[in-house]
Amino acid sequence: IKRVTTNTLQEMKNRGEKIAMLTAYDYSMAKIVDDAGIDVILVGDSASNVMAGHETTLPITLDQMIYHASSVVRGASRSLVVVDLPFGTYQGNSKEALNSAIRIMKEAGAHAVKIEGGVEIAESVSRILTAGIPVMGHLGLTPQSIYKFGTYTVRAKEEAEAKKLKEDALKLQELGCFGVVLEKIPAALAQEVTDSLQIPTIGIGAGQHCSGQVLVIHDMLGLNKGFRPRFLRQYANLYEVMNGAIKGYVSDVKANDFPSEKEQY
Ligand code: KIV
Ligand code: NA
Repeated sequence: IKRVTTNTLQEMKNRGEKIAMLTAYDYSMAKIVDDAGIDVILVGDSASNVMAGHETTLPITLDQMIYHASSVVRGASRSLVVVDLPFGTYQGNSKEALNSAIRIMKEAGAHAVKIEGGVEIAESVSRILTAGIPVMGHLGLTPQSIYKFGTYTVRAKEEAEAKKLKEDALKLQELGCFGVVLEKIPAALAQEVTDSLQIPTIGIGAGQHCSGQVLVIHDMLGLNKGFRPRFLRQYANLYEVMNGAIKGYVSDVKANDFPSEKEQY
């Protein structure tokens, strides 16, 4: 099978083919996602929420991201695997950012890294790129800055923030990023950014004009019970499926109905 590369994604944008991206955090899930034909697997720092149960993405460590990423890489034979640099591993200085990115590439075998922010992290982005590591940007609602925002609502509705986001997007492209995630911003702004850039934009809660879409796998599979924001389309209700299966197992065990004659040696 031919591996998706950053060049593949650029070609897709050029010919108007949408890019499909989902998160995964472990081997088994990555294999399912990869087999189903996803273009890009994101080992998101949303692992902090959905895998570890933290309230925000801030607590997850670089070692933990590397553990998740190495598991995903082993399950992905076709998809491009992009890994989030977690909070506190790239903002300090560009040398630290490069070291963090190198660890992800080397220890996990990832194909690219993703970083939140615009002009503020320009030096870090450049330095990582000089090592030949592809970088994806992330603008709009950047969850590592939740304590600055104070809320997870839509970003860049005001002119000033929209203007900065447009400048940041152009800056990330100029630096050499291969794409940029746009999270929770008005669709019209995402369209403007997508049209102004050569590189692909990947939206989450950013409307239909982005070059591609990304969702957190637990959310789109309905594993995250009760989480139903407007931007989320739920493709399955695995919470109910799993709950039913587990209840069935419990009652079979209690009734001494499992294992049966056929299920023993
Ligand atoms: O961590 C994550 O899952 C992400 C996506 C929501 C873009 O960054
Ligand atoms: Na993330």
